[in-house]
Amino acid sequence: MSPINTNFSSTVIREAANTFGTPLYLYDEAAIRHAFLAWHEAPSHHSVLTCYAVKANSNIAVLQLLSRLGAGFDIVSQGELERVLHAGGLPERIVFSGVGKSTAAIARALEVGIKCFNVESIRELEHINSVAAERGLSAKVSLRVNPDVDANTHPYISTGLKSNKFGISHEEAVSAYRYASSLAHLDVVGIDCHIGSQITELEPFLASLDRLLELIDQLAEDGIHLRHLDLGGGLGICYTDEQVPSAQSYIAAVSEKLGSRSLELVFEPGRSIVANAGILITEVILSKENTGKHFAIVDAAMNDLMRPALYQGHHHIDVVAGPRILAATEQSWDIVGPVCETGDFLGLNRQLSIAERDLLVIHSAGAYGFTMSSNYNSRPRCAEVLLRKDQLVEIRSREVITDLFAHEQLLAE
Ligand code: LLP
Repeated sequence: MSPINTNFSSTVIREAANTFGTPLYLYDEAAIRHAFLAWHEAPSHHSVLTCYAVKANSNIAVLQLLSRLGAGFDIVSQGELERVLHAGGLPERIVFSGVGKSTAAIARALEVGIKCFNVESIRELEHINSVAAERGLSAKVSLRVNPDVDANTHPYISTGLKSNKFGISHEEAVSAYRYASSLAHLDVVGIDCHIGSQITELEPFLASLDRLLELIDQLAEDGIHLRHLDLGGGLGICYTDEQVPSAQSYIAAVSEKLGSRSLELVFEPGRSIVANAGILITEVILSKENTGKHFAIVDAAMNDLMRPALYQGHHHIDVVAGPRILAATEQSWDIVGPVCETGDFLGLNRQLSIAERDLLVIHSAGAYGFTMSSNYNSRPRCAEVLLRKDQLVEIRSREVITDLFAHEQLLAE
């Protein structure tokens, strides 16, 4: 399987770079739509709500496009909530995750009437109850249960183990539900979990589901009837040669396990909707040789795409040749940025033919790319552009130098 499943021809890549400059994030509307509809239109015996995880790519044009296709949203902050609302997302399709929701964010989410708070602790149940009580409102809640299942993924993005900070333990879940039902301003509507990200097999999801179903049945015997089951996000994508189950096969397997239980299914996919719909385009500034090692120094860096530095994330890289003066020979290259850190690389030991002024395409960069970018080394953030049919539309302009200190103040004396 090739990770290169976007529609970007070298002509489009060159045109985007010439028009908007580099480094540049380029997304493909058709690929986003296709990936979302794989979830949204998957056959299932249960009704399914796909709540796109905004943290993966939160550009308001991307959210708008998903909202128009019928997406719900999984948010983790007031900032994400406001983005979704601004982009036309419906509050009744929003679920609010995260271990530390601020009072202001809870109040705003209550005011607009979101579908559900995914609650991560007893203290948080009490907190949401009191924010709702002060406003004379009732908050719909689900408890995030930590199923203690190993997702076999990178430790930084594995969240469903006992040792992680996330969720309420399986053992405490029943008593937590009883307590939640006793709080006057809470309406207990669901159960959720999220075991990690970039998971490339169905088994860990299905093992968590089994644990949640046990709880659902036990709660029903106790008179607590849940309306939805939210399995979180986490379905992996192909970065290199991973064989990944499809959303359809995942949903079919879940729906089958649910059997005759009448529960709405909620999923929170992020990466699987946007990762392979986006690339990062960067230009080779210069090439350099140090004791036999070849470095291509490019104008994108770890501040633009953190995944290689942070998780040793591997992104496929290929070359769109520029105006070459000398012929380039194929050899092993380290693709590095201008940031002053040894960890500032986008790819190591890549067998490529590279010359200065070439464009390099960093694939699978549509998820956790721009959203994790920073201004480190006082580098303005990239522009973001969307390919819509054959048109290139700028959906975020490149930051300019004055943006870098626009919120800072000089001392008066
Ligand atoms: N729901 C919850 C509660 C989450 O914490 C996450 C991701 C998702 C849904 C979406 O998961 P996805 O479908 O995208 O795997 N920055 C890391 C990934 C961190 C994921 C955090 N949580 C990376 O670049 O690999």
